[in-house]
Amino acid sequence: MGEGVLKRYARYLPLTPDTPALSIGEGETPLVRSHHLAGELGIDDLYFKLEGCNPTASFKDRGMVVAVAKALEGGYTTILCASTGNTSASAAAYGAAAGIETVVLVPRGNVAEGKLSQAVAYGARVITLRGNFDAALAIARELAEARSVCLVNSVNPHRIEGQKTAAFEIVDVLGDAPDLLFIPVGNAGNITAYWKGFREYRDVGNAARLPRMMGFQAEGAAPIVEGRAIEDPQTIASAIRIGNPANWAGALAARDESEGDIGMVSDAEILEAYKLMARTEGIFCEAASAASVAGLIKHVRGGADVTGRTIVCVITGNGLKDPGLVQEIADRAPEEAPANVEAVARLLGEPVSGTSGGGGKRS
Ligand code: F0G
Repeated sequence: MGEGVLKRYARYLPLTPDTPALSIGEGETPLVRSHHLAGELGIDDLYFKLEGCNPTASFKDRGMVVAVAKALEGGYTTILCASTGNTSASAAAYGAAAGIETVVLVPRGNVAEGKLSQAVAYGARVITLRGNFDAALAIARELAEARSVCLVNSVNPHRIEGQKTAAFEIVDVLGDAPDLLFIPVGNAGNITAYWKGFREYRDVGNAARLPRMMGFQAEGAAPIVEGRAIEDPQTIASAIRIGNPANWAGALAARDESEGDIGMVSDAEILEAYKLMARTEGIFCEAASAASVAGLIKHVRGGADVTGRTIVCVITGNGLKDPGLVQEIADRAPEEAPANVEAVARLLGEPVSGTSGGGGKRS
């Protein structure tokens, strides 16, 4: 346990004897069975891949460890990325562990507080741009071409290589690929990587089948669904507020080759899934992550037959990244009471004295 992606999946990765053995414990994330949603939707086997359990609390660490190890191998002393937040947190962490400088470009006002705090804590140089993610990525790409900094966005193929290990883990646990994989789509690196991972595992005989890839974008930021770049993408799920995904072609290939789909879900549907995951599964995820669950709900409500199917939803990041968003689903404010048992008991509507208690227990 905790050996990291490079060591665990070395033979499937582009490593050489000179690639440093970098790790801060990424990978081996839980694949947990649904407690409630499966029954509600009539699904026999529904699992959540909890990528928020990675060291920086998002899926980005798998690809980042490979990208940064290869940057070290290539002699780079600075890594650079554009980000809606999670990539920057991950780059900053691995940059710190590798002992190199990290520069992150983020859109002003649209990065969750926890993610920015991470980049700052890990000591990255944070540059806030008066523009959106797509503008930041264009600038990062141009800078990396002209200078000796290593671009660690998912246009860097090493990111995809590391990221595909999430698909390996799902097959390692289930014994085969699921029938359907639901996944949020922003810059489309993740869906591209999962599809590559499932295919590679099938090709070496570790899986007998391939899943249908079901990607979901947010309605106001759904360039792939609409078939055109979106100038000013808008969604409450800031992580996937992207109008011109860099891995667009990879997402289309995953969709078409797997006979899957790329659809969109509204902010209201995303928030419903975000709340449902927390309230009925005990999984506090990011809004962007909830897009995969919202997509599944939409798929089933739309009449799809899911009986006998094994389904995995990729939960890309931890809800703690964006504590402010909880306001959107809070229907009970924290209550205040003086620090004595009578006052708290009164608040709970319990008898103040006596030890029969048991108000919170099932009889
Ligand atoms: N979920 C979360 C929590 C994300 O942070 C992202 C992307 C996605 C889903 C979509 O994944 O881009 O591979 O299609 N975040 C990037 C970032 C863009 O900068 O952190 P994708």
